[in-house]
This record gives sequence, structure tokens and C-alpha cells, in this order.
Amino acid sequence: MPFFFLRADITTLDCDCIVNAANSSLLGGGGVDGAIHRAAGPALRDYCAGLGGCATGEAKLSPGFALPAKWIIHTVGPIWRGGSHNEEDLLAACYRNSLALALAQGCQSVAFPLISAGAYGYPRDQALAVAVREIRAFLLSHELEITLVIFDKSSFHLPDSLLRDVTAFLDRCMPAPASMEGRNTAVFKLRKSAKRRMDLFPRPAEREQAPATMPPPVPSAAFPLCAESSLDERLRCLDESFSQMLLRKIDEKGFTDVACYKRANVDRKLFSKIRSDPAYHPSKPTAIAFAIALELSLDEARELLMKAGFALSHSNKFDIIIEYFISNGNYDIFQINETLFAFDQVLLG
Ligand code: APR
Repeated sequence: MPFFFLRADITTLDCDCIVNAANSSLLGGGGVDGAIHRAAGPALRDYCAGLGGCATGEAKLSPGFALPAKWIIHTVGPIWRGGSHNEEDLLAACYRNSLALALAQGCQSVAFPLISAGAYGYPRDQALAVAVREIRAFLLSHELEITLVIFDKSSFHLPDSLLRDVTAFLDRCMPAPASMEGRNTAVFKLRKSAKRRMDLFPRPAEREQAPATMPPPVPSAAFPLCAESSLDERLRCLDESFSQMLLRKIDEKGFTDVACYKRANVDRKLFSKIRSDPAYHPSKPTAIAFAIALELSLDEARELLMKAGFALSHSNKFDIIIEYFISNGNYDIFQINETLFAFDQVLLG
């Protein structure tokens, strides 16, 4: 999964590189800057003293010292002054320059905090939007595992209209859990109605005896066979696998493999595994990610999921949120992941 959100303390992450939301002196401060300097130890400050500071929007590299991460990229976000002082471009430059530096350093994995969304006062939803936009753009042409660390839930905002619609959809699909008393009444009513049905339609005195032996299954064109088939013969009647259906759909939709796995937020290695093994069984989030990438209808998505042994149900929020997006024709996997993250669900990819 090239891009995902994570609720964590960035100083604990064992990735190749973490990004610091620093100030122009690079000599430490509060917030994530303070946390990184504390965790890395005093050697970090000594090293940064030799970097000569950093301009807003720029990025500079240091070792991680006592951190689990090998490297730290220090970038200086813009201070929010209402939005008319080039803040958005400067914030975008922080992500672009940090990613370029990580790539140049040969990093395979990078973790970002939400730059400028703390002491620098950048509106959090706008800071998140800039971060997601720049990271998605980068991932269209590069392979890197990128984590956007959300330190506190309050800094994660879904657009009000989306939050309202998804919540309403969840309420419609997921009946409120009945109270014990309510549940008992429901069970009682069920039994009563079943009894009433029996009274209305009494069981025939003599149910026609089912023939002792079942009639032989009627061979159909799709399954030539197997009247007295052995297990081996039946196993030879396997249907199209997940991998085969996925590759067929990619061709039918006119996608390239790269475009498909990028849109699915799946990395190249995993896609190669799926492509090369017709019997490959993906996880449910991965199977759904491809249904989203291919912009399948709800029925097609269900069919693809079934190939991997999964179904969509109304018994959990994850499935209902997926159904919400597909039935509304919204196949933006990054927005879907933001929503899943906001509802504490696993992410797609
Ligand atoms: N791990 C991950 N994220 C964190 C952590 C942490 N340990 N601590 C704070 N954050 C989050 C905040 O919740 C916020 O969403 O990092 C984001 C950025 O907040 P700040 O650290 O305040 O950074 P910023 O808004 O860019 O302001 C930078 O503050 O600390 C000083 O020296 C720093 O002057 C600079 C300014």
C-alpha cells in the first residue's frame, strides 16, 4: 500500500525517513520538531547547527541519530496568514522537496506529519488536502511507501457534507443494535409470525417423498459434466479465478497494469504476485481496491470479491462505506481511505 494514514507518534516509526515540521533555524522547537529532537538526542541539534538554517518550503537532510528512522528530512512549512501570502504553494513545496530528497537518498519509506497544521496555524482540512494532493501526484510516477501521520484525531477532518452523507448511509444500513428487551420482542414476534404462517398454510399431510436418490445433476454447457464426477473431475471445473477476472477486467476497461495498480493504491510487487499466480488470494481491502480502481458497478464488485472468497455485507461499517462510494460512483481511493480512516476502519490498497 504506497500511501496510507496512520495515527502514531512519528518518532516511533521504523521507516527509512521521517519528515520534521521544523522552523528556519533547524535548532528545534515545540510540537513534532521538539519531539523529534528529544527522541533523536542532542547530536541532532549539533548536526543541524551546521546546516545553516532552512528557508520556508525548502528541505534539508540529517541522520536519524537515536531515532528508529535512518534519516530525518527537515522542512519548514509556511505560517498561515489568511491564505493570501502564497501559503499553499509553499506548503506544497515542502512535500515535493522532501519527497525529492527522500528519493535522492534512496529511501523506500517516508513518514510525514501534517506540516504547518499545528503551531503555524494552517487550517487542518486544507493542510490535509495539500498533503494528499502532493503525495498522490508524486506516486503517479514514483514507487515509495508514504505514511501521513495523524497525531491527534482532531487534526483529521472529513468535509462536512461527506461526513454527513456517509453517517446517514451507515445509519440506514446498520440498524441500531436492539436492546436485550427489544431483541427479545423481535424474536417473539418472529416466532409468532412463523406460527401464524404455519396455521395459514398447514404442512401437507403427506409431503411428497423426495425421491430416495437425487436425480442426476443436469450437465450444463458451462460445466460439461460431472454427472458421476469424482472430486478430481469436479476440481477440474474451476471457475475463473480472482486474478484471471482482474486481468480480464483490466483489458476490458482499457487500463494498463501500471495505471490499475496505481489507482488501487497497490504496490508493483504485490501486483506482480497477483498477475503471475492465477490462484493468488488477495486480502479483502486489496480485492476491493482493485474493484474501485476498475470503477466496477456494485454487482461487478461483488462478483470480483466473491472470486477471492469475500462478500459485502451490512454487518460492518467497512463494507457499508465501500458500498456508499461505489453506489455513488465515487472511485477516488484516496477520499475513500480518508473516510475509512475517519471511521477507524482498515484502508484500501
Ligand atoms: N508525531 C506526529 N505528529 C505530531 C507529533 C508527533 N510526535 N507532535 C505533533 N504532531 C503533529 C501536530 O498534531 C500537527 O498536526 O504535527 C503537526 C504539525 O504541528 P507542529 O509540530 O506544531 O508544526 P507546525 O504547525 O508546522 O509548526 C512548526 O512549531 O514546533 C514548532 O519548531 C517548530 O517553529 C516550528 C513550528
